[in-house]
Amino acid sequence: MEFASIPEIDTPALVIDLDAHERNLRRVADYFAARPCDLRPHVKTHKCSTIARRQVEMGAIGVTCAKVGEAEAMADGGITSILIANQVTAASKIQRLAALAGRCELMVALDDVNNARAIGQAATQAGTTVGVLVEIDTGMRRCGLAPDPAQAVAFAKAVLPVDGLRFRGLMGYEGHTVMIEDDAERRAKASEAGRQLGACAQAVRDAGIDVQIVSGGGTGTYDISGDSGVFTEIQAGSYVFMDARYHGIQPELETALFMVSTVVSLARGDLVTLDCGMKSLTHEFGQPPVVSPSGLGPVGLSEEHGRCAIEGGTCDLKLGDQVWLLPTHCCTTANLHDRYWCVRDGRLVGTWAIDARGRFD
Ligand SMILES: Cc1ncc(COP(=O)(O)O)c(C=O)c1O
Repeated sequence: MEFASIPEIDTPALVIDLDAHERNLRRVADYFAARPCDLRPHVKTHKCSTIARRQVEMGAIGVTCAKVGEAEAMADGGITSILIANQVTAASKIQRLAALAGRCELMVALDDVNNARAIGQAATQAGTTVGVLVEIDTGMRRCGLAPDPAQAVAFAKAVLPVDGLRFRGLMGYEGHTVMIEDDAERRAKASEAGRQLGACAQAVRDAGIDVQIVSGGGTGTYDISGDSGVFTEIQAGSYVFMDARYHGIQPELETALFMVSTVVSLARGDLVTLDCGMKSLTHEFGQPPVVSPSGLGPVGLSEEHGRCAIEGGTCDLKLGDQVWLLPTHCCTTANLHDRYWCVRDGRLVGTWAIDARGRFD
C-alpha cells in the first residue's frame, strides 16, 4: 500500500480512508441486519458524533459510551439512545446522568445496589428515568457481579422496585477474549463468557423478570457473540477503523485510520525522523508500523518525534514528505486529536470534529 503526500493535511494528522471505513461500517451493519441481534457500537473508538450518526443511519440502534461526558457529547450530537457500559458512582456524575436521561433514552451498567439507589434517587429528583443493566463479570475481572445466576436474580429483584430506575437487562463484556489471535481459542473463550451471561439472563427470566437487553461483545467477538443467541445487542467499537493490534483478528475488516506525519530530519542517513510522537500517537500496544512508503521500520516515539530505521540502507524521502503510519491502538490515539482528516481516492474531502475527545469525565 503506497499513499502519496496530501499537502493540505496539516500533520501530525489522523486520516480516515473513507472507502475502507465505509466498507467496514457496511460489512458489520449487514451482518446485524441479517440476524436477530442488534448493533449498539461503542463510540469510545472514534469519539465523533458524525461517525455515530452514520452508524445509526446504517441501522445501529444507538451507541455505547464509556463515560457520562462521552454520552453528553453524543446526545449533543443528536444520538437518541445511549448505553453507558460502565459504573457511574461519583455524586456529581450521578446528577449529570440523571439530567441526561431527560434528553435521550439512557441506560447504565450497575453492580452495586446502593449505587442503584443513588441513581434512582437522583433520577426521581430530576423527574427522569434511568434504564439499568446488571453487569456480570464473565472473566474480564474489571467490573460486574460474579457470574452466579442466583446472585443475578437477587440483584435484579433488589433493583426492580427502585423509583427512578427501569430494569432493562444484563451486560457482560468479554474483553479478555476479544484480542485472542487464535480463532478457535477466541471462539471457545468468548462462547464460555456468553454461556455464563446467558445462564444469568435465563435465571432472571425464570424468576419472572422481563429481560429486554443482554449486551456485550467487541470487534474481535462480534460474530461469535452476535451468533450465540445470548446477546440482544453488541457493543463493537474498533471495527470502524481497525488498528495494528486488531488487524488480522477479523481479516474481513480493513485498516481505515492512519497517522500521517512529516519527515523533519534525515541528517543521520540511516534514520527517518517524523513530526509525530507520543503526544499525537499512543504506543501501549507497541511501536506503530509504517505503511507508506515501504522500507521503513516500526516507529519509536518520544514526545514530539518518531524515529524509524531505513531498512535496506537507502530511501527516497525528502524533508517535508509525508509518511503514513498505522496506529497500534485507534481508541486512545483518537482521544488525542481534535479532528479527522477524511480522504477519498488520495484527495482530502473534509474534516470531522472529534467532539467527544477528552470527554473521559
Ligand atoms: C464495555 C466495552 N464494550 C465493548 C468494547 C469493545 O470495543 P472493541 O470493539 O474496540 O473491542 C469495549 C472495549 O474496550 C468495552 O470496554
